[in-house]
Amino acid sequence: MSRKKIALIGGGQIGGVLAQLTAQKELADVVLFDIVEDLPQGKTLDIAEASRVDGFDVQLRGTNEYKDIEGSDLVIITAGLPRKPGMSRDDLLTTNAKIMKTVAEGVKEFAPNSIVIIISNPLDAMVTLFKKVSGFPANRVMGQAGVLDSSRFASFIAWELGISVKDINAMVLGGHGDTMVPIVRYSNVNGVPVMELLERKYNDKAKAKEIMDAMVQRTKMAGGEVVKLLKTGSAFYSPASSAIAMAESILKDQKRVLPTCALLNGEFGVSGYYVGVPVVLGSNGVEKILDFELDAEEQAAFDNSVNAVKSLVEDMERLGF
Ligand code: APR
Repeated sequence: MSRKKIALIGGGQIGGVLAQLTAQKELADVVLFDIVEDLPQGKTLDIAEASRVDGFDVQLRGTNEYKDIEGSDLVIITAGLPRKPGMSRDDLLTTNAKIMKTVAEGVKEFAPNSIVIIISNPLDAMVTLFKKVSGFPANRVMGQAGVLDSSRFASFIAWELGISVKDINAMVLGGHGDTMVPIVRYSNVNGVPVMELLERKYNDKAKAKEIMDAMVQRTKMAGGEVVKLLKTGSAFYSPASSAIAMAESILKDQKRVLPTCALLNGEFGVSGYYVGVPVVLGSNGVEKILDFELDAEEQAAFDNSVNAVKSLVEDMERLGF
């Protein structure tokens, strides 16, 4: 069996970590593409020279030419500018839409059978645009947001309860913006509801709710919290790890259930929009969307988030994309 091939479009902060993780996990051979001359060549050479130390056997290649992504099974896109302090993800819209259009054309031409994971922001709009320009079927075009948002939520719960994050299940649905929807009702520690543990910890229902509300709020603003600290860019380790979890599930046909930005077709009462929902990820990409009943409050928050995605997509269309 020949090795799988991953093309990483964008060799910046996230692209570099994606290349390193792909190599360290021996998931696939790596082609790192960027428009900046020598940058992807330099990064892949640097990572490859650690192969003896890390003990991995994959090929890494940097390139400025789309033809080198030919034959890729999976493409992960981070091309575009990251947020600067004070900038919302939506401010990035025009600049990154122009970039995404050229990337979609390149991927369509040279890796027409690939499965594509998009990370570039504003995420929901960039995934929509890629789908439109490439014409790829919906199961092969998705976005990474929910794995990271859920991991952030789980981290905050773990720190609050003083227990291992490995035993925490937390899920964040909706768009990848400030309206995202952390699902409190189903967040649990090996099945035990987090709310119940908080109520016991504080022996006070109101206090427990206050603590949970603060964690939900921190989750929604978590990307901005990192931007504010880094000053020159946005989070890159955790988005890369999150996309690699998705990539691994696809390449190894693990069928993990991961919150994924996928095209809805009636699920959760929505059609024709890319929104974060629980998805079974396997060798066919988005294999199934796990639809489940939201309560009235969750559905209202979800609808609000979908409306934010809709207006972002409308803005993008008004700008001519
Ligand atoms: N084709 C390919 N790569 C491009 C193009 C293009 N048309 N335009 C820009 N790039 C490259 C840049 O040269 C840069 O190396 O995309 C890379 C982006 O890297 P960074 O600026 O380091 O950004 P990063 O932190 O990796 O984030 C990338 O992911 O989370 C989102 O908001 C974030 O949209 C941003 C994206």
